[in-house]
Amino acid sequence: MIPNQVAEHHVEVCEKIISDALQKANVSMKDIDVIAYSAAPGLGHALNIGLMSAKTLAQKYNLPLVSVNHCIAHLEISRCVTDAQDPVLLYVSGANTQVIAYDSGRYRIFGETLDIGIGNFLDSFALAMGLGFPGGPLVYELSLKSKNYIELPYVVKGMDVSFSGLLTNIEQKLAKGMKKEDLAFSAQETVFAMVLEVAERAMAHCGKNELVLGGGVGCNIRLQEMAHAMCKARDAKCFVPANQYLVDNAAMIAYTGLVMHKSGISHELVKATIDPYERTDEVPVSWR
Ligand code: FE2
Repeated sequence: MIPNQVAEHHVEVCEKIISDALQKANVSMKDIDVIAYSAAPGLGHALNIGLMSAKTLAQKYNLPLVSVNHCIAHLEISRCVTDAQDPVLLYVSGANTQVIAYDSGRYRIFGETLDIGIGNFLDSFALAMGLGFPGGPLVYELSLKSKNYIELPYVVKGMDVSFSGLLTNIEQKLAKGMKKEDLAFSAQETVFAMVLEVAERAMAHCGKNELVLGGGVGCNIRLQEMAHAMCKARDAKCFVPANQYLVDNAAMIAYTGLVMHKSGISHELVKATIDPYERTDEVPVSWR
């Protein structure tokens, strides 16, 4: 993504998206109680356009403004649309791979990727095989044609995972002429086992018996199967939100903003800002 172009795109579609959303929900601006916007983390250029639109709406309609952390919003929407009460979130998307859970007033990161996100790994792998983009669904389709597991580097360091060395290793195996479907099957088994190992250890450490998936890679059926199997083995519950709530979505920002606002949180218009590098555990969670 080229930041300038992403910003231009956001400016272009912003007004239409808001009017479409109001129309689809069959409401008008006078029905809106609070404006929530995604403040962190992410591309500064894109976040700024969201901030400007949010500020404009808040000012025009004299509404309170709430800034929301994107990663936390994944966890909150999963609690909203499933029966999960206090889950460990396995957040797996293009740019992000984190295991997050609530502990002592914060959403804490118990493990994460040391380099690229798991979705980014799948996209790069698919590209190397000439499959196209987005890679996740294409790798999954191809993986169904094989049950032949080829040993691959399994990189879990403490509570963190790493995918870049694995990507290089697979690319070398591809170049040697190993079968694409075997590699697709083996890559999925390996990276999903890695992230689920960390998620399972976080559950054991925190004494939590619920797992919820979040992020676009959570749509992967094989990951869902493996997550269910892990939870079943430790007598825990596994929740998978519908795909529209797994991928990045505006509902998660709106819902989290509403929950925060109901607890009394509201940001002064002039001080409202963005923070592209804010970490999940920097946000005091006063609404729980
Ligand atoms: Fe996300």
